[in-house]
Amino acid sequence: MKIAVLPGDGIGTEIVGEAVKVLNALDLRFEMETALVGGAAYEAHGHPLPDATLKLAKEADAVLFGAVGDWKYDQLDRPLRPEQAILGLRKNLGLFANFRPAICFEQLVDASSLKPELIAGLDILIIRELTGDIYFGLPRGRRVATDGHFPGTEEAFDTMRYSRPEIERIAHVAFQAARKRSKRVTSVDKANVLETFQFWKDVVTEVGKDYPDVALDHMYVDNAAMQLVRAPKKFDVVVTGNMFGDILSDEAAMLTGSIGMLPSASMNSSQQGLYEPSHGSAPDIAGKGIANPLATILSAAMMLRFSLNQPEAAERIEAAVKTVLAQGLRTADIFSPGTTRVNTHEMGAAVVKAL
Ligand code: IPM
Ligand code: MG
Repeated sequence: MKIAVLPGDGIGTEIVGEAVKVLNALDLRFEMETALVGGAAYEAHGHPLPDATLKLAKEADAVLFGAVGDWKYDQLDRPLRPEQAILGLRKNLGLFANFRPAICFEQLVDASSLKPELIAGLDILIIRELTGDIYFGLPRGRRVATDGHFPGTEEAFDTMRYSRPEIERIAHVAFQAARKRSKRVTSVDKANVLETFQFWKDVVTEVGKDYPDVALDHMYVDNAAMQLVRAPKKFDVVVTGNMFGDILSDEAAMLTGSIGMLPSASMNSSQQGLYEPSHGSAPDIAGKGIANPLATILSAAMMLRFSLNQPEAAERIEAAVKTVLAQGLRTADIFSPGTTRVNTHEMGAAVVKAL
């Protein structure tokens, strides 16, 4: 089992360090190799995704990823910015299916900004298409407009596009995931305005005919954003495009109280995956040792289950996380009066002990 460990920037190194300790505490043997990515790789090698890092990721069974990005790189040319590393990995490894669960842990119902009764027991799975849409669609760029409202002036443009096979394969992923849950899929689109998403809706509907046991409904993205805060428990599996999925998955994550708790998996068609916390590099708290490592530790559990075929080990880690929460241990992001505040390292150590 070969794991490429890519901690990245900001709190990435701190949280990945704790996840690695948890993996090492299992009675399994891994070959782990660490490499630079993002701003850290740019500083050392002049590129956010050096060839050696990409090669390591491609050859591994799974990638354990921290986070990339820092405001100090905002002025760099786009191809050199840290975010290009994660986009490049998704594209080069063909990681088209992004799983972002939003699960509310029993002990953390009060950490949410929503009323406890709205989120107690919440268990949503957002499946975001990850290698298409306006994120990767060409052409894109800047030019002088020849038409539109202000011909002759500077303009910028991106292209939203989806092919039939791209929609079909992510729809199959969603229906199959729903079969293992409560058999409901909500496909989120903007078919009332966008050609791309009318096509999305049509193709998802066609694929849905192969899954008569799964209930499919469709929702416009603006309504979905509203329903997620109004009645989040009505959702089971949500499938959507890259751009809408980016936005809705942050919203869904925050329903649970802290984005610091939520893991994610990005898979290709050969079970190879990249596992990362749903949150970012949080440069404002980097180096302080206060970040919550649980999202990354839970991402390592997803890695064991989806790419490394070790479901028991995944369950052990998830149970250990529940144990430390039941013990009342909390990092700053999930702290509330009456619980015990711990730092990144103490939280990781507590999970190891609970294992
Ligand atoms: C995410 C992030 C990335 C995205 C950025 C860092 C490129 O926001 O994984 O959701 O937009 O996909
Ligand atoms: Mg995002």
